[in-house]
Amino acid sequence: MLCFRFCPVPRLELVLLCLVLGAARSCALELNLTNSEKATCLYAKWQMNFTIHYETTNKTYKTATISDHDNVTYNGSICDDDHNVSKIAVQFGSGFSWIVNFTKQEPNYFIDSISFSYNTEDNITFPGAKDKGIVTVHYSEKVSIPLNDIFRCSSLLTYEENHVVQHYWDVLVQAFVQNGTVSRKEFLCTKDKGSTTVAPIIHTTVPSPTTTPTPKEKPQVGNYSVSNGNTTCLLATMGLQLNITQDKIASVININPNSTGFTGSCQPQTAQLRLNSSIIKYLDFVFAVKNENRFYLKEVNASIYLANGSVFSIANNNLSYWDAPLGSSYMCNKEQTLSVSGTFQINTFNLKVQPFNVTEGKYSTAQECSLDDDTILIPIIVGAGLSGLIIVIVIAYLIGRRKSYAGYQTL
Ligand SMILES: *[C@@H]1O[C@H](CO)[C@@H](O)[C@H](O)[C@H]1NC(C)=O
Ligand SMILES: *[C@@H]1O[C@H](CO)[C@@H](O)[C@H](O)[C@H]1NC(C)=O
Ligand SMILES: *[C@@H]1O[C@H](CO)[C@@H](O)[C@H](O)[C@H]1NC(C)=O
Ligand SMILES: *[C@@H]1O[C@H](CO)[C@@H](O)[C@H](O)[C@H]1NC(C)=O
Ligand SMILES: *[C@@H]1O[C@H](CO)[C@@H](O)[C@H](O)[C@H]1NC(C)=O
Ligand SMILES: *[C@@H]1O[C@H](CO)[C@@H](O)[C@H](O)[C@H]1NC(C)=O
Ligand SMILES: *[C@@H]1O[C@H](CO)[C@@H](O)[C@H](O)[C@H]1NC(C)=O
Ligand SMILES: *[C@@H]1O[C@H](CO)[C@@H](O)[C@H](O)[C@H]1NC(C)=O
Ligand SMILES: *[C@@H]1O[C@H](CO)[C@@H](O)[C@H](O)[C@H]1NC(C)=O
Ligand SMILES: *[C@@H]1O[C@H](CO)[C@@H](O)[C@H](O)[C@H]1NC(C)=O
Ligand SMILES: *[C@@H]1O[C@H](CO)[C@@H](O)[C@H](O)[C@H]1NC(C)=O
Ligand SMILES: *[C@@H]1O[C@H](CO)[C@@H](O)[C@H](O)[C@H]1NC(C)=O
Repeated sequence: MLCFRFCPVPRLELVLLCLVLGAARSCALELNLTNSEKATCLYAKWQMNFTIHYETTNKTYKTATISDHDNVTYNGSICDDDHNVSKIAVQFGSGFSWIVNFTKQEPNYFIDSISFSYNTEDNITFPGAKDKGIVTVHYSEKVSIPLNDIFRCSSLLTYEENHVVQHYWDVLVQAFVQNGTVSRKEFLCTKDKGSTTVAPIIHTTVPSPTTTPTPKEKPQVGNYSVSNGNTTCLLATMGLQLNITQDKIASVININPNSTGFTGSCQPQTAQLRLNSSIIKYLDFVFAVKNENRFYLKEVNASIYLANGSVFSIANNNLSYWDAPLGSSYMCNKEQTLSVSGTFQINTFNLKVQPFNVTEGKYSTAQECSLDDDTILIPIIVGAGLSGLIIVIVIAYLIGRRKSYAGYQTL
């Protein structure tokens, strides 16, 4: 289910996009600010929620959670390139207000400070609150971003300040859009980045400045399933990382299972798993049966919202991955790369999948991928050990012979 709400405000192009994912409802906020020349000057899309602890009249503490943002307006949002300041101001619900300031200092811009206000006079959200009135919490954390990069943070960011816990995730923002074009070059937050030490080496050996290899953390492993009536007919457990290459720039996106919905269908000869989230319009895995006795991944269809607001779509129905006998599951713990097209790869981690013949909602015995199979290493190690031993024996023999020969000579 998808709901779009348009909030037209003079000179501002605003869209609030609400996505209903499975049971958990989460709303992505989106702001596309344009300047007087109607060129985009600030672009942002993000998700947030808040948990507020407040004191009640009878000296107990209560918790209010704010995760749906109703009646959103963006009054006061500005991008002022001349004065090096930009601001996103959001008003929602009954008296909530959220403001983030950005400053520019070439060659970077900064996420400066966040302030969040709520009104405890709203006795529906804050029943029995002791103090009535507007409360504002500030959070300042300077994040420095190269001027022409779009900031991305898919991971969950949590800030706790004065009884308010703020959660942000799936964040995309470019506060000083250059020449009206939202950048495709992503600047990842530290949580999205991997701690791989290889990165600087790659940077220095790759001469092209257009390619930015962005090593990332391994994605979290998600559990997905499809039901036919009330019986589970497809099971999949995997960590997914998407790799989209456009204009020589690879965007690597880890799928967060916590905010990813899944659906699908099962038929005797074909089964489908569809994932979707605020980033993924859809990602379909289609399985087929071959020779009446094996299954395999035949097709991948994907449509992904990119950082610059465009949509990347791809389909390939001529794949042959994850091949295993019917009645069993397919497993691959090592990282595996599915090459869907020259521009789209999916890296899988800790994969286990069974698209057919699932009984009692459980995986059947697994056939493991050859990558996991390290039995081939054993003969190599044994062989290497043996040849080492032979060399030692030969050397010992030669030395021994030499010694005895030398012995004879002295005689
Ligand atoms: C806020 O979002 C995070 C991440 O999706 C989730 O773990 C948390 O339960 C949410 N909290 C509320 C109050 O909805
Ligand atoms: C936002 O601006 C619109 C018109 O510009 C106005 O009708 C609305 O009341 C304002 N909302 C807030 C919360 O200030
Ligand atoms: C949102 O606006 C509608 C109509 O303007 C109003 O009925 C509703 O109470 C508002 N919701 C909140 C949470 O303020
Ligand atoms: C944002 O900047 C304005 C002035 O530029 C300042 O008045 C306001 O307090 C700032 N807000 C935050 C949340 O820092
Ligand atoms: C909320 O406040 C209004 C008036 O301020 C009052 O009529 C109403 O009974 C209050 N509701 C609750 C649940 O306290
Ligand atoms: C305190 O007030 C809350 C509602 O405001 C109520 O649910 C709770 O039972 C009260 N506790 C006591 C000890 O009176
Ligand atoms: C923006 O346009 C100016 C002049 O047209 C150019 O010098 C500059 O490189 C452009 N910046 C970006 C980021 O495209
Ligand atoms: C599952 O569905 C079948 C028929 O649709 C029904 O007879 C059965 O009671 C259901 N089982 C459960 C556990 O709901
Ligand atoms: C992403 O794809 C590009 C181009 O195929 C490749 O060079 C790069 O290593 C891939 N990155 C990851 C993390 O898979
Ligand atoms: C997903 O949720 C689990 C537990 O609910 C939590 O441990 C994990 O950090 C979350 N992952 C992300 C990326 O938010
Ligand atoms: C933002 O609005 C401008 C002007 O309407 C439009 O050209 C641009 O494509 C929009 N960008 C996004 C990311 O929605
Ligand atoms: C798998 O299920 C199909 C029908 O759903 C059945 O015909 C077939 O025998 C099953 N195969 C195995 C190996 O369990």
